[in-house]
Amino acid sequence: MAFENLIVEKKPPIGYITVNRPKVLNALNVKTVLELIDAFEEMAGDETIRVVILTGSGEKSFVAGADIKEFQNLSPDDARNYAIRGQKLLNLIERLGKPVIAAVNGYALGGGCEIAMACSIRIASDNARLGQPEVGLGLIPGYGGTQRLPRLVGKGRAYEMILTGEHIDAAKAERIGLVNKVVPRDSLIEECEKLATTIAKQAPLAVRYCLEAVDRGLNGSLDDGLALEADLFGLVFGSQDVKEGVTAFLEKRKPEFKGK
Ligand code: CAA
Repeated sequence: MAFENLIVEKKPPIGYITVNRPKVLNALNVKTVLELIDAFEEMAGDETIRVVILTGSGEKSFVAGADIKEFQNLSPDDARNYAIRGQKLLNLIERLGKPVIAAVNGYALGGGCEIAMACSIRIASDNARLGQPEVGLGLIPGYGGTQRLPRLVGKGRAYEMILTGEHIDAAKAERIGLVNKVVPRDSLIEECEKLATTIAKQAPLAVRYCLEAVDRGLNGSLDDGLALEADLFGLVFGSQDVKEGVTAFLEKRKPEFKGK
């Protein structure tokens, strides 16, 4: 599939999606959002890809938000649909069935912070700056920021970021749990690849069920989440991989998972 605003590469077991609009700091226009939906669907359907790394091109920015040029003359109905389209992409990322690592290589603002939050894990370079600056434009976050940010960092810290619109640096983002780890800019992709490789060695079905249990569990009550966990724990015991994993441990050898 050919993309205008993305660079999509596959080096199994890792898939790479790079937002490639460096002149506008990788701002997400509608075309880019639609291309991202296609690219992530392609990664989801490719069994050789076990982990996806999402990043932005250029030295300065991961994604500097929605493309503000498209906000001129947007009607309330258009704006609602705009938000729904972006939310569809972010839900797809969050529910891809395989982990997505955000390699936050610079500005992650507005929709950029939001797309990073939909990823399973965020690794930031030391020059990264994150924020939800929408109030300064007279709008509110529309790609899930009001929902995912408090779930990640707590209500008070989320309010502070959303209501002031201020950017925070990578070190603070790590301190409050918005990113998992901060690394030097030059080693960002390498660090993400190390993490991806470790995850890719685990049993694919187990990884998928872990993602599902955490994501769906967080959206409901503790009791519903525990019931879901028990269901998935049962389901995974129907797989060949659980037999392989347990047998390999007992035989003191490395498991060979098939994803079945
Ligand atoms: N949309 C459109 N264009 C953008 C953009 C965006 N979000 N962010 C940057 N650009 C463009 C700039 O207009 C500029 O273009 P020109 O060269 O044609 O002037 C180019 O990218 C480079 O940007 P700057 O010259 O501004 O670079 P800087 O280093 O001085 O500042 C910055 C960097 C602090 C990130 C600044 O560009 C900025 O504040 N950008 C906007 C960030 C923002 O408000 N994002 C939220 C958007 S709203 C949203 O995302 C809603 C939602 O929830 C979905």
